Amino acid sequence: MPAELIDGVAIARQIRDEVACDVQRLAQRGIVPGLTVVLVGDDPASAVYVRSKGKATDEAGMHSVTIRLPADTMQATLLAQVDALNADPLVHGILVQMPLPKQIDADAIVRRIRPDKDVDGFHPVNVGKNLIGERDGFVPCTPAGVQELLVRSGVETRGAECVVVGRSNIVGKPMMALMLQNAAGANATVTVCHSATRDLAAHTRRADILIVAAGRPRMVTGEMIRPGAVVIDVGINRVADASARSGYRLVGDVDFESAREVASLITPVPGGVGPMTIALLLRNTVRAAERLA
Ligand code: GUN
Repeated sequence: MPAELIDGVAIARQIRDEVACDVQRLAQRGIVPGLTVVLVGDDPASAVYVRSKGKATDEAGMHSVTIRLPADTMQATLLAQVDALNADPLVHGILVQMPLPKQIDADAIVRRIRPDKDVDGFHPVNVGKNLIGERDGFVPCTPAGVQELLVRSGVETRGAECVVVGRSNIVGKPMMALMLQNAAGANATVTVCHSATRDLAAHTRRADILIVAAGRPRMVTGEMIRPGAVVIDVGINRVADASARSGYRLVGDVDFESAREVASLITPVPGGVGPMTIALLLRNTVRAAERLA
């Protein structure tokens, strides 16, 4: 029997509705959560992401501002912009869209954002809090979204073999920290695989929960998956497709057709993890507003 699909659009909608309720509750106290997104340059993919973040923020009843800076912006200018947002009481969440142009040191920018406004969860203070299981920081939106998908789909994580493919600072590493905690929706035995892993399939075949965030189209195939496993595909890759009007289509890091014959539950691409990232960004922003109020 083919795997059941995890509907990321529906689960993200649930979270966005919850966030909208929280926003109404805060409005009674005269607080409007504010998210400012900074976009440097004109990378078309980033422009699409930033537009959808702004739209979702507005829809939730929050205050949304997008600051667009030219591609040749100097590091000092961007640092000064971050300083201004850090000091602005109407701004609860700050997100500087990555990647940044090469004249800018992205690490220096991330370190300049106040940790209590860092709704991306990229600041070392928040990275550390996530690792030690302290709940008063911010967890990066994509791994937090993956954990929500598991919890809201009723997946038992306690004692599960959880294999993460990919060790990025944005997904793989924070995902590992989240699933490892002695907490609800976690408490798994976690293995992290990466480009130097010997015999990747030997690891992935042991997984009850397989989370793939490697950035390589369709690299995990059905034969690498344990029958009955839960498969979460974080990848979003453009591949050429002559039959599509745009000339391309989106595929994940998992070969969906073969994987769904083996897995019990699987996320589609698109419509799986993608919509969750924005939902969790909104939730982080509401939390920032609650804590800063
Ligand atoms: N670029 C792609 N994804 C992200 C994200 O989650 N946060 C930021 N700041 N930039 C990104």
